[in-house]
Amino acid sequence: GAPVDFDLAPVTEGAIVKLFWRGKLIFVRHRTKDEIASAEKVDVNTLPDPQPDSARVKEGHAQWLVVYGNCTHLGCVPLGHQGHYEGWLCPCHGSVFDTSGRIRQGPAPTNLPVPPYKFVSDTKITIG
Ligand code: FES
Repeated sequence: GAPVDFDLAPVTEGAIVKLFWRGKLIFVRHRTKDEIASAEKVDVNTLPDPQPDSARVKEGHAQWLVVYGNCTHLGCVPLGHQGHYEGWLCPCHGSVFDTSGRIRQGPAPTNLPVPPYKFVSDTKITIG
Protein backbone atom coordinates (compact mmCIF):
# COMPACT_ATOMS: atom_id res chain seq x y z
CA GLY A 1 0.00 0.00 0.00
CA ALA A 2 1.08 3.51 -0.82
CA PRO A 3 1.72 6.07 1.89
CA VAL A 4 -1.31 8.23 2.70
CA ASP A 5 -1.29 11.92 3.57
CA PHE A 6 -3.71 13.03 6.24
CA ASP A 7 -4.62 16.63 7.03
CA LEU A 8 -4.85 17.20 10.78
CA ALA A 9 -6.12 20.78 10.59
CA PRO A 10 -9.86 19.91 10.60
CA VAL A 11 -9.54 17.57 13.59
CA THR A 12 -10.69 19.61 16.56
CA GLU A 13 -9.22 19.21 20.03
CA GLY A 14 -10.80 16.22 21.73
CA ALA A 15 -11.92 14.59 18.48
CA ILE A 16 -11.06 11.11 17.22
CA VAL A 17 -11.10 10.56 13.46
CA LYS A 18 -11.08 7.17 11.76
CA LEU A 19 -9.30 6.41 8.52
CA PHE A 20 -8.15 3.37 6.65
CA TRP A 21 -4.62 2.56 5.57
CA ARG A 22 -3.77 -0.72 3.86
CA GLY A 23 -7.25 -1.90 4.75
CA LYS A 24 -6.63 -1.33 8.44
CA LEU A 25 -8.62 0.99 10.64
CA ILE A 26 -6.59 3.79 12.23
CA PHE A 27 -7.61 6.30 14.89
CA VAL A 28 -6.19 9.81 14.81
CA ARG A 29 -6.88 11.47 18.15
CA HIS A 30 -6.37 15.15 18.91
CA ARG A 31 -5.70 14.91 22.62
CA THR A 32 -6.62 17.58 25.13
CA LYS A 33 -4.12 18.84 27.68
CA ASP A 34 -5.81 16.73 30.34
CA GLU A 35 -5.65 13.63 28.15
CA ILE A 36 -1.95 14.18 27.49
CA ALA A 37 -1.28 14.78 31.18
CA SER A 38 -3.07 11.63 32.27
CA ALA A 39 -1.18 9.59 29.66
CA GLU A 40 2.17 11.01 30.78
CA LYS A 41 1.74 10.72 34.54
CA VAL A 42 1.31 6.92 34.62
CA ASP A 43 3.98 4.80 36.29
CA VAL A 44 5.03 2.78 33.25
CA ASN A 45 6.03 -0.18 35.44
CA THR A 46 2.40 -0.69 36.43
CA LEU A 47 1.29 -1.21 32.82
CA PRO A 48 0.57 -4.65 31.30
CA ASP A 49 2.46 -3.58 28.15
CA PRO A 50 4.93 -1.02 29.54
CA GLN A 51 5.51 1.88 27.16
CA PRO A 52 5.91 5.53 28.06
CA ASP A 53 3.55 7.90 26.29
CA SER A 54 6.60 9.61 24.81
CA ALA A 55 7.38 6.43 22.87
CA ARG A 56 3.91 6.45 21.30
CA VAL A 57 3.75 10.00 19.96
CA LYS A 58 6.13 12.15 17.96
CA GLU A 59 8.33 14.58 19.83
CA GLY A 60 6.78 18.05 19.84
CA HIS A 61 3.42 16.67 18.71
CA ALA A 62 2.09 15.11 21.92
CA GLN A 63 -1.43 16.32 21.14
CA TRP A 64 -1.63 13.80 18.31
CA LEU A 65 -2.06 10.08 18.95
CA VAL A 66 -2.17 7.78 15.91
CA VAL A 67 -2.97 4.11 16.59
CA TYR A 68 -4.47 1.11 14.87
CA GLY A 69 -8.18 0.96 15.62
CA ASN A 70 -8.76 -2.72 16.28
CA CYS A 71 -8.63 -4.21 19.75
CA THR A 72 -5.55 -6.35 20.28
CA HIS A 73 -7.73 -9.05 21.86
CA LEU A 74 -9.99 -10.26 19.02
CA GLY A 75 -10.18 -7.25 16.78
CA CYS A 76 -13.36 -5.39 17.70
CA VAL A 77 -13.41 -1.62 17.36
CA PRO A 78 -13.04 0.09 20.74
CA LEU A 79 -15.24 3.09 21.52
CA GLY A 80 -13.47 6.39 22.12
CA HIS A 81 -13.78 8.57 25.22
CA GLN A 82 -15.14 5.65 27.21
CA GLY A 83 -13.87 3.44 29.99
CA HIS A 84 -12.19 4.26 33.26
CA TYR A 85 -9.27 6.06 31.62
CA GLU A 86 -11.40 7.88 29.02
CA GLY A 87 -9.29 6.46 26.22
CA TRP A 88 -11.23 3.62 24.61
CA LEU A 89 -13.48 0.83 25.81
CA CYS A 90 -13.83 -2.34 23.76
CA PRO A 91 -17.51 -3.33 23.61
CA CYS A 92 -16.76 -6.99 22.98
CA HIS A 93 -15.01 -8.14 26.16
CA GLY A 94 -14.34 -4.96 28.07
CA SER A 95 -10.72 -4.14 27.39
CA VAL A 96 -9.94 -0.64 28.61
CA PHE A 97 -7.34 1.55 26.89
CA ASP A 98 -5.99 4.85 28.14
CA THR A 99 -5.48 8.13 26.28
CA SER A 100 -2.22 6.75 24.93
CA GLY A 101 -4.01 3.67 23.55
CA ARG A 102 -2.34 1.45 26.14
CA ILE A 103 -4.14 -1.55 27.56
CA ARG A 104 -5.06 -0.92 31.20
CA GLN A 105 -7.72 -3.53 32.03
CA GLY A 106 -9.29 -6.54 30.36
CA PRO A 107 -8.16 -9.35 28.09
CA ALA A 108 -6.31 -7.44 25.35
CA PRO A 109 -2.64 -8.48 25.65
CA THR A 110 -0.97 -5.42 24.18
CA ASN A 111 -1.37 -1.71 23.51
CA LEU A 112 -3.01 -0.48 20.34
CA PRO A 113 -0.02 -0.39 17.99
CA VAL A 114 1.26 2.81 16.46
CA PRO A 115 1.49 2.60 12.66
CA PRO A 116 4.49 4.00 10.81
CA TYR A 117 3.94 7.70 10.15
CA LYS A 118 5.70 11.03 10.17
CA PHE A 119 4.88 14.71 10.31
CA VAL A 120 5.48 16.47 7.01
CA SER A 121 4.24 19.78 8.44
CA ASP A 122 2.65 20.86 11.72
CA THR A 123 -0.77 19.94 10.35
CA LYS A 124 -0.07 17.04 8.04
CA ILE A 125 1.12 13.50 8.53
CA THR A 126 2.08 10.80 6.08
CA ILE A 127 1.13 7.30 7.13
CA GLY A 128 3.28 4.52 5.73
FE1 FES B 1 -11.71 -6.24 22.51
FE2 FES B 1 -12.10 -8.80 23.13
S1 FES B 1 -12.04 -7.93 21.18
S2 FES B 1 -11.84 -7.11 24.47
